[in-house]
Order: sequence, then C-alpha cells, then structure tokens
Amino acid sequence: MFECFSMESRTVEAYIYTHTHPWSRIAKWSDSVHQIRNFSATKLNKGAREHPPTSRARGPREFGARVGVTPTHLGLLKGIMDSGNQLQSQGYAADITSIKEAKLRISPYIHETPVLTSKSLNFIARKQLYFKCECFQKGGAFKIRGASNAIFSLSNDQAAKGVVTHSRSIFNIFCYSGNHAAAVSLAAKLRGIPAYIVIPENAPRCKIENVKRYGGQVIWSEPTFQSRENVAKKVQQETGAIMVHPFNDKYIISGQGTISLELLEQIPEIDTIVVPISGGGLISGVTLAAKAINPSIRILAAEPRGADDAAQSKAAGQIIRLPETKTIADGLCAFLGDLTWPVVRDLVDDIITVDDEAIIGAMRMCYEILKVAVEPSGAIGLAAVLSDQFQQSAAWKDSNNIGIILSGGNIDLGVLWKSFGK
Ligand SMILES: Cc1ncc(COP(=O)(O)O)c(C=O)c1O
Repeated sequence: MFECFSMESRTVEAYIYTHTHPWSRIAKWSDSVHQIRNFSATKLNKGAREHPPTSRARGPREFGARVGVTPTHLGLLKGIMDSGNQLQSQGYAADITSIKEAKLRISPYIHETPVLTSKSLNFIARKQLYFKCECFQKGGAFKIRGASNAIFSLSNDQAAKGVVTHSRSIFNIFCYSGNHAAAVSLAAKLRGIPAYIVIPENAPRCKIENVKRYGGQVIWSEPTFQSRENVAKKVQQETGAIMVHPFNDKYIISGQGTISLELLEQIPEIDTIVVPISGGGLISGVTLAAKAINPSIRILAAEPRGADDAAQSKAAGQIIRLPETKTIADGLCAFLGDLTWPVVRDLVDDIITVDDEAIIGAMRMCYEILKVAVEPSGAIGLAAVLSDQFQQSAAWKDSNNIGIILSGGNIDLGVLWKSFGK
C-alpha cells in the first residue's frame, strides 16, 4: 500500500494505493505553497527514498509531484497544513517561521545533536524511547541554540557593546544553573563581542569554569536577588551591553524551538515529546515548532516536585511563583514568564512532577545504560516517562514513540558522587 502526495499551485492532495482502490484520493488541503515546497524538500523526499513508488504505482498525471510516504509523513504534512498558520496567528512569542529563521541563523554555530536509543531502556519503559542528546550540544546544553539566535540577531551597533546576563534567582534564594551563562559566553565569543556574566559567589564551581572557558567575563554579586539586579544594572549602564534573558525572549524561544525541527526530521514517527521545564523557554520553542509540524503531537513537561510552579500555574490558570524551591535539578527553579506562560497554558498537554529520588534514578540510568553524562535537570524527562503519574495517565496508552530531551550534561563530579551515594 502506498500513499502519494500530489502538488498543484496551492493544494496538496494525498492518495492511497490499494489493489481494490488504486490511487483513491483520501485528503486534500489548501495552504501556502511555500510551506508545502519546504516540506516536500525534506520529509517527503525522505519518505520517497524510504518507500519508492513501484513501477506499477501510477498517480494522477495532472499533478507535478508524486512521492510515496508513510502514514507518519501524512500526519506531519496535515500538521503543517492545518495548524502552522493557525499557531502563527495566535500571537505567541515565536512561530514556525521565526524558528526556521533561527535554524538558518544558528546552524553554523551549533551541533545537530544525535538521537540515541536503548533496547534496555525501551524494555524498562515499555515504550520506544528516543533520547535527543542536547547534553552533547556545544556548551554542554541546549542553551546555545537560544543564546546564539539572540546574539546573532543583534545589529552590529548593538552587538559592539556586548551582552550581559545573570543567574536566575527567586526572592533571596539563588538557583544557579549556569547553562545559559555559559551559552551566552560562547555565543558572544563566536560573534567576537564581550559577554558580562553576573554570578553569585556561591555558584557551583563547574558552571563558573564553563563561563570562563568560553571567554565570559565573570562579575561577582552577592547571593541575593537585590545584589544580582544591582550589579547587572550597573554593568548595563557602564557598558551599554544588551541583556540576554534566559527564557522570556522571542529569540531565545525560537532558538530552543530548533530542537523540534531536528528531532522530527530525525525521527518523524515521534508522537510525544517530554521536555524539562523551568522558565519555559525550552518547552515553548519545542512546542510551537512541534505542533506546527504535527498538531497531534503530545508535549509533556517534566518538573521537579520541589519546584512545581509550572504544574501549579497550569492548575490555577495563572502564573504561580513559589516562596522557595528545593531540588537537585538546579536548572529547573525559575518561574514562567509572560511570554512562556501562554504556550504552557494553551499548548503543553500535561506537566509531570517527579521527586529528586526519581531524577537521580534517571540520571543513573543515563550513565549506566545509555552511557551518557546527563545533569539532573537534563535527566528529568526519563524520570517523568517512568513515573506512576505518566504510566497511569490517559496519555500513556497513546504515547508509543517518545522523544525525551536530555537537555544538558554539565555536572560537578563531586555533586554526582554525592547524589549517587544517597
Ligand atoms: C539543563 C537544563 N534543562 C532545562 C532547563 C529549562 O529551560 P527553561 O528555563 O527554558 O525552561 C534549563 C534551564 O536552565 C537547563 O539548564
């Protein structure tokens, strides 16, 4: 059995070939021919290579293009047709166009990260798992995608003054992940401009080393919210540097969204993506791109129970900020912003919360079975897939090909040994 897409100027038609009904038309969509061409150049051609039409296969002659594709490609194409423009018009901070632009802009500076699989982990999860290894990304985390998109979008005049960023903090408690800071340092170095990174004195050593390694200028603050704000403002005033926010920024969100473009190109049959959530830049980009490509794809957020503000926000229908957070996942303590919240509210299907023990267990599996060094914030997606909350949910039954974003691999070995020793 074959399926076949045909193109004329502004329509796409899908045909199915069976012995009883040769080349019956099963669907027809009209939309931007530009999107169709983009799509056909990648997924459809790939489908055609994998399922070349036989010599007996004869499609309708009046159309220009005809290729054999799998049902997954059919779903993906329908996704583009039905929802790409719909999402675009809904006023989210990013859309499939800005995400594709980001991909063009940043691809010289980032890695296309591999997708790993493990039969043992599939057996444990009772699902087909695809691990998108952003821990192998430049800088050790996905953050370079957004940071390089933001920094390479600056005009030459803006860029000349440099960029500044700081750790995120919650009231008086610092939760310092440092992956964004390292990514900003690296992207600024690639652009040849200064990066000023405000870091609290008590930040983990490996994250400070990363910033320095990539050429960021470390500017110390005290470990309080007020000190961080004051120091960052002073740097901005003195240098004219542009602030690069870790998540609440359309360029950052668009850059992070390039993960979905890659992942769905690498594994088109994915039906569910599990994404760590903190400020929500990563999940916003991943969701906007994935749902534009395939609206039926399920997006699940993975969040530590000790910093479950996103789950609480979704339940309450408004952004909730917690008085304090406590988790080993140091990258997942920020709260949603006004640009990321609408995406989480409207398009993220569910939020799975897991405790630190489950995160450590998932991290251990990544090391021992997948042979990949993942930090706690990066391993949480696997913990979510293995959780009772997911396995007892309605989504579990329909999630068969699950993409898990291993978002980062920057971890202090000392912290790692200590957590495994628990
Ligand atoms: C490794 C890692 N994963 C996930 C996240 C969450 O990203 P976001 O704040 O965009 O939700 C972070 C944020 O720092 C991180 O460092």
